Amino acid sequence: MNDILAAASALKNGKLVAFPTETVYGLGADAQSQEAVSRIYLAKGRPADHPLIVHIPTKEQMTDWAIEIPEFANALANAFWPGPMTLILQRSEFAKDFVTGGQDSVGLRVPNHFAALELLAEFAKLGGRGIAAPSANRFGKVSPTTAQAVKDELGNYLGSEDVILDGGFAEVGIESTIIDCTGEAPKILRPGSITIEMIEKTTGLELDQAVSSLRVSGSLENHYSPNAKVVLDQPPVAGDGFIAMSNVETPVGVVRLAAPATEGEYAQFLYKCLREADEKSLSRVVAWQPTGSGIAIAIRDRLQRASNAS
Ligand code: TXA
Ligand code: MG
Repeated sequence: MNDILAAASALKNGKLVAFPTETVYGLGADAQSQEAVSRIYLAKGRPADHPLIVHIPTKEQMTDWAIEIPEFANALANAFWPGPMTLILQRSEFAKDFVTGGQDSVGLRVPNHFAALELLAEFAKLGGRGIAAPSANRFGKVSPTTAQAVKDELGNYLGSEDVILDGGFAEVGIESTIIDCTGEAPKILRPGSITIEMIEKTTGLELDQAVSSLRVSGSLENHYSPNAKVVLDQPPVAGDGFIAMSNVETPVGVVRLAAPATEGEYAQFLYKCLREADEKSLSRVVAWQPTGSGIAIAIRDRLQRASNAS
């Protein structure tokens, strides 16, 4: 708890705070401070025109940052916040260009992790209105799911007064579902564990399948990549790292990185495995993609991007 109070005050003083969420770790700054937010871009090595998600303590703060919120967006917020979902809404005057990448929309999320929620609540007591935070990795690399992974990624790029909060292993393991709510119907910009079925059931609307013109860095084709080459759905050979569901046996000489029993477990361990492959200096990781709908769609999305880079 003392850690969280100190982290909230570091944020208020313009420092960076890496914090756990249920999806992946974020690298946070005061969303109202241009100077603090600019340090996120430096630490990540991320182009300045990529928008950041503003994390808020409860859904009531939506109206600080967004205007003309459609009914279906309220329904989604009621159903899935706190949770692994980011809503893209028309921005208010609060959401400056340095957070939105100059776009007229803003991404908002209430994360579902007690340390993140405590941090947001303590920051609010100090007058903070939101924490801008991308995933706490270098640009284009694999998102961290542990505090140690954040240290490994960003340790050299953080200052002595910046903070890394340790909240254990991220439960979901892949980034939030991003839903564009600026049109007539919700549109998925990045799949995640809040699925098409869940969104359609909650809103009573059919998803807009048109390709969005909004910029989402996660949708660059080669994102989320480790140093190892990621190869999909091929037979692994000796010396390869291997990720496949638990009913698949491990061929002799192959380094089994994960044998998830469920697709949820697959998501949870995916980034940890990709990091482990690099720690073990493996040159290839063979991943057998899960075949289902739901969260399997998000897993295949991340795997395909990781494999495009290699
Ligand atoms: O689960 C998550 O969403 C994690 C945790 C830390 O909350 N955050 C995360 O942030 O994945 P980041 O920056 O790595 O990915 C957020 C994506 C980016 O690709 C960004 O382009 C997109 O959200 N985004 C943010 N604001 C947007 C906006 N106004 N319009 C379109 N895309 C937006
Ligand atoms: Mg990211």
